[in-house]
Amino acid sequence: MVFDIDMIKGVYAALPGKVEATRKMLGRPLTLAEKILYAHLSAPTSTPFERGKSYVDFAPDRVAMQDATAQMALLQFMTAGRDKVAVPSTVHCDHLIQAKVGAVQDLATANDTNKEVYAFLSSISDKYGIGFWKPGAGIIHQVVLENYAFPGGMMIGTDSHTPNAGGLGMVAIGVGGADAVDVMAGLPWELKMPKLIGVKLTGKMSGWTSAKDIILKVAGILTVKGGTGAIVEYFGEGADSFSATGKATICNMGAEIGATCSLFAYDQKMADYLKLTSRAEVAAAADAVKEHLRPDAEVYTDPAKYYDQVIEINLDELEPYVNGPFTPDLAWPISKFAQAVKENNWPEKLEVALIGSCTNSSYEDISRSASLAQQAIDKGLDMKSEYTITPGSELVRFTIERDGLLNTFSQVGGVVLANACGPCIGQWARHIDDPNRKNSIITSFNRNFAKRNDGLASTHAFVASPEIVTALAIAGDLTFNPLTDTLTNKKGEQVKLDEPKGFELPVKGFAVEDAGYQAPAEDGSGVQVIVSTTSDRLQLLAPFAAWEGTDLKGLKLLIKAKGKCTTDHISMAGPWLKYRGHLDNISNNMLIGAVNAFNDKTDTVKNELTGEYGAVPATMRAYKAAGLGAVVVGDENYGEGSSREHAAMEPRHLGVRAILVKSFARIHETNLKKQGMLGLTFANKEDYDKIQEDDTIDILGLTTFAPGKQLTVELHHKDGSTEQFPVNHTYNEQQIEWFKAGGALNVIRAQAAK
Ligand code: F3S
Repeated sequence: MVFDIDMIKGVYAALPGKVEATRKMLGRPLTLAEKILYAHLSAPTSTPFERGKSYVDFAPDRVAMQDATAQMALLQFMTAGRDKVAVPSTVHCDHLIQAKVGAVQDLATANDTNKEVYAFLSSISDKYGIGFWKPGAGIIHQVVLENYAFPGGMMIGTDSHTPNAGGLGMVAIGVGGADAVDVMAGLPWELKMPKLIGVKLTGKMSGWTSAKDIILKVAGILTVKGGTGAIVEYFGEGADSFSATGKATICNMGAEIGATCSLFAYDQKMADYLKLTSRAEVAAAADAVKEHLRPDAEVYTDPAKYYDQVIEINLDELEPYVNGPFTPDLAWPISKFAQAVKENNWPEKLEVALIGSCTNSSYEDISRSASLAQQAIDKGLDMKSEYTITPGSELVRFTIERDGLLNTFSQVGGVVLANACGPCIGQWARHIDDPNRKNSIITSFNRNFAKRNDGLASTHAFVASPEIVTALAIAGDLTFNPLTDTLTNKKGEQVKLDEPKGFELPVKGFAVEDAGYQAPAEDGSGVQVIVSTTSDRLQLLAPFAAWEGTDLKGLKLLIKAKGKCTTDHISMAGPWLKYRGHLDNISNNMLIGAVNAFNDKTDTVKNELTGEYGAVPATMRAYKAAGLGAVVVGDENYGEGSSREHAAMEPRHLGVRAILVKSFARIHETNLKKQGMLGLTFANKEDYDKIQEDDTIDILGLTTFAPGKQLTVELHHKDGSTEQFPVNHTYNEQQIEWFKAGGALNVIRAQAAK
């Protein structure tokens, strides 16, 4: 058993009391999201939180990490000095496997190329009580759904499609590595109380329509930004009418509308899925508290009273959708798609069709798609496009192989790829004659931004259900509508595809020989974490130094950044991602995308020691070598974008002492605080203009650093003049402790040592 039944039973034991207390406090019936959120507060509250405004501390039940983001998260966790993770956690090796030839060979190549990363992740998981899913075991969200997700639970995961677990009624939220470190180290996890969007589903799907079409339609309605800061809760009799894996598909792609997460209420379909994935015990425990795992009845009758926005979709009328190209919210019902292809001059020829991924590789998806492949064989049709199948997990792969479905795919020329992200995240060595040629592909994945799948700007990527992807692959043409059109078979006859047919769950149950799971050691104290000292991809972290107890004087101005400075400007992605487990190497990208306000150039700043202009990281290294600290000055909303913790760690590592800006993006500001950095804002924004290129800077007032009390910045200009101005900060008592200790993890380490 890989899941933690005692933890789940503990959550359920407390649930009725917590729900009742919340209902009383709010004085009204509750939605499901409210029940789960209030049941997971890190400390009880006597006052309600305001949706979209209040910042709330939560205590999630689980953490899941994928191999790319886990590296820095776990390196940081090591410095917290704990023997074990505070909550059940898992690592999943899925992002680093490139799809090139087929499953077996690609997996062997990945095992070789990423040997040191896998050895590190496996050993550190073993040591600290973390479940480790080896390369080939499957994609994080599918493995979580099959093993760990449970109704009414709360988890965070270091991947944006973590909300997939909402298909089993879990509040599951995608976060950055820094948040995972907090929760694994036993700190509360902060989130702005989400708004609530209710989606009422009536009727029942049939024929060619599948769960994917619900979210493709919702994406068209809400657009890629419409769900921002909100939990999308699906309800109504339509919601109970389809499979748990279909629900997971919808929750997975809630990420494409920016939703915090998406959620379905506990029902018989979830119980069936839990039972068939060896979790009858979880289903029984959930059954015992089932009224608390659904919204209160009043919510169904008057949803507008309880949700900030309500959308209604009648599943009886829902058509299959194809969304794209280049954005997942450009939604076309299949009846309008052919015309859109023609009018927009998108390449009609479909070159590659890809099914599977974490979004759509359930037994239901695969069996329905296989029924179409079988029809192609029976009706004398060829598969006109290249066709690939990415199983979401070894459990699914083994089962569909046993049931002959993989054989059906290979009979029509389908290529089975590794149980991994592969083409979904650009890990795809695509064979194409001319990379500049406009071309079309279609996937059953979730994202279709330019270059996402194959790195080519010329590729027009569309997303649809696996059934529609398979039908279009048979036709080899984007303008084919399988609901109405016929195809010419090898005998020259006109044939029509019948509606896909499949099984929600395997009739013979799931089976697997080796799921790819490695349980951690009972006692990890003797386990050695494997990191080579000569590695350029991994480096153990040394704790950051504590504050020296004095004001900071004689700091150099590293850069006065002008305009937008996102986490991507501060710590670029692309080729640098290779070094995400090596802080010193990745620090060579620090602020190279920021625009210097004094010369409008990127990565060109004045080195005050030599008077020469040079790259930002090299200049900072020169200051550090000379024993000098520095200040980074920035504009509005500094650090917006992803929650990438490297953007806060790199300046800290290279010796920057303070980031002084007009305003911060909140997550980045918090990340800076966690790393023990000073994050300050101009009390008067015009003071930004006072900063001159050759300034030396003092930060005064630190010996009496207190919440709500301004600090003072003193500029020493080159002409000998000085000027002072006040600066604000938002540090609370605890965050001031973090600053003094040199970082939040240093505080935890000190506590753990006691
Ligand atoms: Fe992987 Fe794509 Fe899912 S990158 S986690 S298969 S969204």
